[in-house]
Amino acid sequence: MDQTNKQSAVTRRTFVAASAAGAVAPSLAMASADTPALLGGTPVCKVTYPSWPMFGKQEEEALTEVIRSAAWGRLNGSKVDAFEEAFAKMTGAAGCLSVVNGSNALYTALNVMDVKAGDEVLVTPFTFVASFNVILRQHALPVFVDTDPESYLMDPKELDALVNERTKAIMPVHIGGSAVDMDGIMSVARKHKLAVVEDACQAWMAQWRGKNVGRIGNAGCFSFQATKNLNCGEGGAIISDDRDFLERCYAFHNQGFFRGRPRYSAGESMSGTNLRLTEFQAAVLLVQLSRMEEHQRTREQNAAYLSSLLKDIPGIRPAKIYDGCTRNSYHIYMAHYDKAHFAGMPREKFLKALAAEGAPFRSSYGSHRNFGFLRNLPQDRAYKALFGEDRLKQWETQSFNLPRSEQVFDEHVWFGQAVLLSERSVMDRIAEAVRKVHKHAAELAKV
Ligand SMILES: Cc1ncc(COP(=O)(O)O)c(C=O)c1O
Repeated sequence: MDQTNKQSAVTRRTFVAASAAGAVAPSLAMASADTPALLGGTPVCKVTYPSWPMFGKQEEEALTEVIRSAAWGRLNGSKVDAFEEAFAKMTGAAGCLSVVNGSNALYTALNVMDVKAGDEVLVTPFTFVASFNVILRQHALPVFVDTDPESYLMDPKELDALVNERTKAIMPVHIGGSAVDMDGIMSVARKHKLAVVEDACQAWMAQWRGKNVGRIGNAGCFSFQATKNLNCGEGGAIISDDRDFLERCYAFHNQGFFRGRPRYSAGESMSGTNLRLTEFQAAVLLVQLSRMEEHQRTREQNAAYLSSLLKDIPGIRPAKIYDGCTRNSYHIYMAHYDKAHFAGMPREKFLKALAAEGAPFRSSYGSHRNFGFLRNLPQDRAYKALFGEDRLKQWETQSFNLPRSEQVFDEHVWFGQAVLLSERSVMDRIAEAVRKVHKHAAELAKV
């Protein structure tokens, strides 16, 4: 069955039936509908959210075609090339290189930008761990930049004070698909002549002032991992307007062999590795790509509608989207939770009460301060040799004292993109669940 049409289990019929029951026995229906589900009442948001990935016959046919072609790798097939061309076209970039995943897209970009052991890279702490893991793989130092607590994104105003002679690059991360203030980032990058690699692993169609993210810095890196809006199980890509840079990325992902050049002759060569995508993955991506624009529009409409509903509920506030973010890819719908408006209920209790109602909100990233591998960095033999104890002490003090990032770790609540592909009425249900928990916060806080 084609899963693209799978919709909410709340049908007009069940809604009408429930209303009719209320008309017959109003007090009973009101009592059970109004009691929080966590306290034994009826959940207001009992819906089946769209499952992910969505796929149909086209994916099956595309995969069968690759199997039968017997051209399974990019070196003898044409699907990977076709996908790269299509993705570059979609983003408006001069070119695209696909790789095995988003982490390795970042890894490739950093290598080709010559970020090396002993360099420093400015990165946001409120991100998936991959963003700073790749910096550590280079034996470079991830220098954590405090977060704008309204948008959850890297605050460019914090950058200047963190730049030193070792700083090589800035890695802004477009969390949830919301574009970082790229005007601020680029102005610091230009001032200090730093490379900018955009971690756009959650931001395929997002735009900053009408230009697709990933094209504002020197390179943009994307993920096609299973949960992502564009998905082939595992996959990634780098886009850039710098063709020479992309050719070097190509060579890096192909054991250092440049495209169209003899492999074993004297001349320019580089060391690389094998990060090639398969024809199977590209075949799936090409089909998934054809659904992107429609899905994107649905997500945007539902997110805007939900935000309009939540704005009337005190204590829950959608994360700020900068004016310059002319398109948000809504990989994640992000909001602030302020317990002061919920009778002091801790976030985990709030989420439990919402889950009982059937609402999809949850919390995610935990503070970078809790990662042992970061805490132990000042004791690491290689880092001590590369940076010296004084610099590491300074780094430790700065990186683990970011109050605005800690606020974001503590108060964010969110849900993933597939929920936004539900019918619009599901947004009403989600808002209703939050409203109900707000109304009963004092009772819920006691249990
Ligand atoms: C912000 C961010 N950066 C990097 C990555 C790494 O991508 P991948 O899982 O494809 O390696 C992810 C994946 O979730 C991500 O969300």
